[in-house]
Amino acid sequence: MKSEALEVLKNRRAIRAYKPEQITEKELNAVLEAGMYAPTGAGTQGVQIVAVQSPEEVAAVDALNAKVLNNPDAHPYYGAPTILLIFETEACVTHELDGAAVCTNMLNAAYAVGLGSCWIHRCRQMFELPEGRELLKKWGLSQTLTGVASIALGYAACERPVPKPRKTDYIVRV
Ligand SMILES: Cc1cc2nc3c(=O)[nH]c(=O)nc-3n(C[C@H](O)[C@H](O)[C@H](O)COP(=O)(O)O)c2cc1C
Repeated sequence: MKSEALEVLKNRRAIRAYKPEQITEKELNAVLEAGMYAPTGAGTQGVQIVAVQSPEEVAAVDALNAKVLNNPDAHPYYGAPTILLIFETEACVTHELDGAAVCTNMLNAAYAVGLGSCWIHRCRQMFELPEGRELLKKWGLSQTLTGVASIALGYAACERPVPKPRKTDYIVRV
């Protein structure tokens, strides 16, 4: 059994160093489209994706995540020139899970088109802060959005890490 999709799912890794050059529109659109086709509970598509590429906005989001980390010197997006933010659009039993599914699709798509990516946490806390609320306002987005996950995206400036061995009791077959 040979499948490019299976190769992608197995070999994608979290990338934590990025080249400063911006990704192409074609690459970005491929990643975003994969996000839009992720499964969502009852097909509600209750997820909002925000693609951040302007250097000023990328710096603002990076600083906001560092603020949640309580480390103003940190760069939690590792210098990636693109940040994808994933929000749930309203309180709904599945929307947080939907956001995670959207995030995972985009991470795998990034690897499939030759990009590096990394899931970055603290999106919920970032957009609970007044500065996060201000960014939503500036971007013309609803104040009711809740952050679920975010992604650092760009060209890798490091080798692809070797994955940890999988734990032996990962799967139970009955
Ligand atoms: C919910 C979640 C949150 C994560 N948050 C971060 C993060 O804030 N910073 C980071 O560098 N990696 C983060 N990661 C990436 C994981 O550390 C990474 O996926 C894990 O170490 C396994 O490595 P792999 O993705 O290369 O298989 C996160 C992953 C998940 C699923």
